[in-house]
Amino acid sequence: MLEAKDVTVRFGRTVAVDRVSLRLPDGPCGLGLIGESGSGKTTLGRALLRLAPVASGSIRFDGEDVLAMRQLRPYRRAVQVVLQDTDGALSPRMRVGTAIAEVLRSHRLVPRGAERERVVELLTDVGLPAEHADRYPHQLSGGQRQRVAIARALAVRPRVLVLDEPTSALDVTVQARVLELFERLREEHRLAYLLISHDLAVVERLCERTMVLRSGRVVEEGPTAQVLHDPREPYTRRLRDAVPRLPATPPATP
Ligand SMILES: Nc1ncnc2c1ncn2[C@@H]1O[C@H](COP(=O)(O)OP(=O)(O)OP(=O)(O)O)[C@@H](O)[C@H]1O
Ligand SMILES: [Mg+2]
Repeated sequence: MLEAKDVTVRFGRTVAVDRVSLRLPDGPCGLGLIGESGSGKTTLGRALLRLAPVASGSIRFDGEDVLAMRQLRPYRRAVQVVLQDTDGALSPRMRVGTAIAEVLRSHRLVPRGAERERVVELLTDVGLPAEHADRYPHQLSGGQRQRVAIARALAVRPRVLVLDEPTSALDVTVQARVLELFERLREEHRLAYLLISHDLAVVERLCERTMVLRSGRVVEEGPTAQVLHDPREPYTRRLRDAVPRLPATPPATP
């Protein structure tokens, strides 16, 4: 349903994304995007959202030309982003419940007066108690803030989530719980994930397929187990060997 063909993004003379094609079918599913720092992962994610300047190539969502869309609102609603930096994503002066309610209001997703109920439902869905609606972001832990960011993304009932290092800022035990959450939400909300991560164990858990970027180019793409455990490219092998946490044997394919 989300399909990019030969997408190129340039910043001056830097070619950040070089003729990249990808397909993200209807969820639940996940496509992992890995590659060294500066390889173009974030820029590609942003290009899909029309937040980076696409010099050439095409992006289609349900067959519709994304680059030609005049009304971006429905697309931006269907394709939501969750970033690593939750501190920046949430306004420090707004209670988290208000922040989520504002999204509901601006997209007219619930009748007036029913926002609170839906906010509580969303917080519950991401494993937070209802009282947290009245807190400010600084009164939450990093993991809790990330859950709020996820709840806010889910508020608009998206079909695609672009996750850019969504767990990198969290410590390992919190990471594990947020990952479980992503796994569950993916099935329950039938989400398609584009997951950008340095953590290959995270990619392995959430993505059936994985794409490897190097200097803006796709150097390898395939089933995650194959890409991570039996890579064709020495570059992928180096990425993998730089990560000590990957289990030695591939898990059973779901
Ligand atoms: N707004 C911008 N203006 C100029 N150059 C940019 C801009 N955004 C990204 N770049 C350049 O594009 C290239 C790809 O950057 P990008 O942020 O996509 O890499 P990345 O794979 O996400 O890296 P990391 O793993 O460190 O997040 C880099 O050379 C970067 O310097
Ligand atoms: Mg990045």
